Amino acid sequence: MRLNKYIASAGVCSRRKADELIANGNVKVNGAVVREMGFDVAPGDKVWVNGKLIEGEKDKVYVAVNKPLGYITSMEDDKGRATVAELVSDIPERLFPVGRLDYNTTGLLIMTNDGQLTYSLTHPKHEVDKTYVATVAGVVSDRRLSQLRKGVDIGGFVTSPAKVKVLKQNPRSAVVEISIHEGKNRQVRKMFAAVGNKVQSLERVAIGEIRLGRLKPGHYRKLTRQEINYLKEL
Ligand code: URA
Repeated sequence: MRLNKYIASAGVCSRRKADELIANGNVKVNGAVVREMGFDVAPGDKVWVNGKLIEGEKDKVYVAVNKPLGYITSMEDDKGRATVAELVSDIPERLFPVGRLDYNTTGLLIMTNDGQLTYSLTHPKHEVDKTYVATVAGVVSDRRLSQLRKGVDIGGFVTSPAKVKVLKQNPRSAVVEISIHEGKNRQVRKMFAAVGNKVQSLERVAIGEIRLGRLKPGHYRKLTRQEINYLKEL
């Protein structure tokens, strides 16, 4: 197995991060530094990452988490904020978030120790549709809807066409469902800002066909076998 894949499938980190560790000389095989990510790991080889011996492929765990407000999508935080790692702390395996949700965004986050899946799901080339429900200030007019559907400039980047549906228009705010397949930083907030509606709250309700459903904030559930197979086939 290629060295970067071996490290990712041991649940140490994502494949991209593994590439970095290898390039930086943080990986040793049988005692010698290897800087080649395609290095072929043979059965019985011992691989060290940052001085720590890693074990071969681990049991894979896949969970859907409902991220509450005020949690950071990270394994640790130097400012002492709550992290999504705490939401799955009773699971013995070390699970990593697949992609990111902002501190103030709630909803569906997938966490897994399958570095391979994380790599393919977050790769810009084949990002899956993510669906959000946004409450935004003001009126989402037809003109604004068609701008969002066409693509908007969010500061040097023009978004690809989004699927957008107004679920409810109140006098001073609207509830809108929006699906995008890119994952730029604060993309949904920036897209609404670009058409003149400020996002007041944002919840992710689906990643592809995986739905948040009735999962309570702060809770998690294991993905079903069908859901796991679906993600792997994307
Ligand atoms: N878009 C945002 O603006 N924030 C998120 O957390 C996710 C998508």
